[in-house]
Amino acid sequence: MYIGVFDSGYGGLTILKEFLRYLPEYDYIYLGDNARAPYGTRSFETVYQYTLQAVRKLFDLGAQLVILACNTASAKALRTIQQKDLPRLDASRRVLGVIRPSAEVIGQYTRSGKVGIFATPGTVSSRSYELEINKLYPDIEVFQQSCPMWVPLVENDEHLGDGADYFVSKYIDALLSQSEEIDTIILACTHYPLLLPKIKKYLPKKIRVISQGPIVAQSLKDYLTRHPEIENKLSKNKKRIFLTTDVPEDFDKKAKKFVDNIIEIHSQKISLI
Ligand code: DGL
Repeated sequence: MYIGVFDSGYGGLTILKEFLRYLPEYDYIYLGDNARAPYGTRSFETVYQYTLQAVRKLFDLGAQLVILACNTASAKALRTIQQKDLPRLDASRRVLGVIRPSAEVIGQYTRSGKVGIFATPGTVSSRSYELEINKLYPDIEVFQQSCPMWVPLVENDEHLGDGADYFVSKYIDALLSQSEEIDTIILACTHYPLLLPKIKKYLPKKIRVISQGPIVAQSLKDYLTRHPEIENKLSKNKKRIFLTTDVPEDFDKKAKKFVDNIIEIHSQKISLI
């Protein structure tokens, strides 16, 4: 059976890329709901319904385990799917997200105990990072900044252009104005690692920026070691299947930049409704 990786569109490829680096032996199905992206500005109910449709589809296609490689879906849909839907869909399968693994490592990084989060408006308003981090580290103070223009910049291939500088420095200033002591920032949206060159240009050098890909991959590796009942069901033929709800030719072309051109991508179209 497969490891399913779900994202609203392309962003989850930055997570998949690291899965393929840390756990290359497994078979993967990636599903991008490009036709309905972005999710970041959608309501709780809509993100939940869309994500549930995707999880069902990935289960139907043979995923034993689905990773919601989208912060917005993890923030707005994961808990309900785990608690309400999974028991009736198939209690032997698993759905995991990207927020918990990111929250778990944050204590290793911050010295000041002040952490910043850049995320979509949906993730910020859910306050999931604050809640997850404070469950594990009650003394860490979390400051959030929503960055509604960053996903469109990446999607429109303007993330390294001159126009990006305005919105990158604007959101950095807005976050840092909340506390001068922030020493660690999580890029809590799977699109944002593509903006790293610009983010590093405007962020003081002493602040550490964390991309989620390697953290989530390491966490999945640990999870599979701790759960042989899941790991034993996973096939290991290095199969990679890419599905999109929009135009496959567009997906293949745009997807390249999210995986640094190192993964061959030939997607197929799929419908979730
Ligand atoms: N991939 C989503 C995330 O990590 C951002 C893109 C979107 O808004 O759909 O939050």
